[in-house]
Amino acid sequence: MPTPPRRLRLAPSLLSADFAALGEAVRAAESGGADALHLDVMDGHFVPNISFGPALVAAVRARTRLPLDVHLMISDPLRYLEAFHRAGGDTLVFHVEADADPEEVVRRARALGAAVGAAVRPATPLAALDRVFDRLDQVLVMSVHPGFSGQSFLPEALPKLREARARLDRDGHDTDLSIDGGVTAATAVDAAAAGATFFVCGNAVFAGGEVAGNLARLRSAVEEGAARAVR
Ligand code: DX5
Ligand code: ZN
Repeated sequence: MPTPPRRLRLAPSLLSADFAALGEAVRAAESGGADALHLDVMDGHFVPNISFGPALVAAVRARTRLPLDVHLMISDPLRYLEAFHRAGGDTLVFHVEADADPEEVVRRARALGAAVGAAVRPATPLAALDRVFDRLDQVLVMSVHPGFSGQSFLPEALPKLREARARLDRDGHDTDLSIDGGVTAATAVDAAAAGATFFVCGNAVFAGGEVAGNLARLRSAVEEGAARAVR
């Protein structure tokens, strides 16, 4: 029996939107066909930049029914899981390099009733996720150094995606495999061919042009790449 096609999802990152017109950005993403929204939380410690906290997540939650994917680029994820879950985060994605026991983060996020993802920076091997890999709803491979939108895609993310894809397929897990950073219509093809299924896109959605058209281009790119993926 042929394997059913994988579900491919586009998650615009609001970090690239106009913060003074966030409601419009949310509406444009939703009506343009986004499957989820990605919210980049930065604490000025784990990464050099500072973005926003639970209040902004709650404001977005009030405007959309799309799943909210909260990317916690923060040093102390355990301290804030509950606040971001209460604010309306559906998936809480923590960094394995953060100062927390990954097993404890997964356990606590689950106890709250949240879906849980774990992220690796470009320099971190996938093996850093070993202790929790089988229990995740999402594996997030960073293709830029976390901290800022609008950077270029680092191709060393591709072998890491292939490795994660092989492992998930071998174990029969339908965990989301997320790629984040520098995803454009060009790099999305390669990421999808390498097995990514969840595409975070900031500038490619919000910087210039029109959101629905940008999402349509990204959608064709991921479908084209996925069709090339070895199954
Ligand atoms: C980077 C963030 C990304 C970023 C994506 O630290 O985690 O989600 O906003 O933006 P682009 O797609 O512009 O690289
Ligand atoms: Zn992100």
